[in-house]
Amino acid sequence: MSDETRTAGTARPARTAAVIPAAGRGVRLGAGVPKALRTLGGTPMLIHAVRAMARSRAVSVVVVVAPPDGADGVRNLLAEHALPEKTEILVVPGGETRQESVRLGLAALPGDVTDVLVHDAARPLVPVDTVEAVVDAVRAGAPAVVPALPVTDTVKEVEPRPAGQPEPVVATPERARLRAVQTPQGFDLETLLRAHEETAVDGEGATDDAGMVEALGVTVLLVPGHEEAFKVTRPLDLVLAEAVLARRRATDAY
Ligand code: CTP
Ligand code: MG
Repeated sequence: MSDETRTAGTARPARTAAVIPAAGRGVRLGAGVPKALRTLGGTPMLIHAVRAMARSRAVSVVVVVAPPDGADGVRNLLAEHALPEKTEILVVPGGETRQESVRLGLAALPGDVTDVLVHDAARPLVPVDTVEAVVDAVRAGAPAVVPALPVTDTVKEVEPRPAGQPEPVVATPERARLRAVQTPQGFDLETLLRAHEETAVDGEGATDDAGMVEALGVTVLLVPGHEEAFKVTRPLDLVLAEAVLARRRATDAY
């Protein structure tokens, strides 16, 4: 889709940015360096994630949200790795919660950006086709677009108890109606900024940007996600990510 698509009737051409929250500690993965700086196939997860966004022709600027005291380290890391020339890359320090980190990333966007992808550094292997499908749907006029897959496990709603204790079941939603959401989530920038102003959650903050847009009463559209866009959360996910990279190298898909 061309950059001109959205210009009919609007004053400015579409410009798409990506914000990559990478400021988390990675507690569930285990102690050590921040999760986004852990390596996969010898390359930091964050570099994989930046490349995944830059691979999309539509994305011309990437804002990396670094660990709060790690912005200089992240700048050095980005300088050490080959990244496409066409992509402008900015680094800002993040916050205590993902919601706060995304807000700080949005605040650093250049003034001419119209659309934004928010993409977890912890989903380093998302294929470019998934990124483009989200961009295309946003540029076609959807204010919020999320890649998602049908869930494979049956999901129970419970009365939560402290970790390790038995928990009573409250409900079993019909599995066929449930989807697990991934990133990049794509937004009309104005809509996402409004969501951060009006529906931000105190305390632990929202873990899902699209959920904040839903709270505005705006319809969120799901498009097909991809199994390789999984989030690296626990140690077993690292094993899977290394296997995906090895398969790509063997089949020369990348
Ligand atoms: N994130 C962030 N700022 C925070 C917390 C999370 O930018 N204060 C980012 C993470 O770096 C990650 C994404 O949000 O790319 C998704 O979060 P998650 O998978 O929960 O990562 P962590 O918070 O690092 O992991 P954990 O919850 O296990 O500590
Ligand atoms: Mg977290």
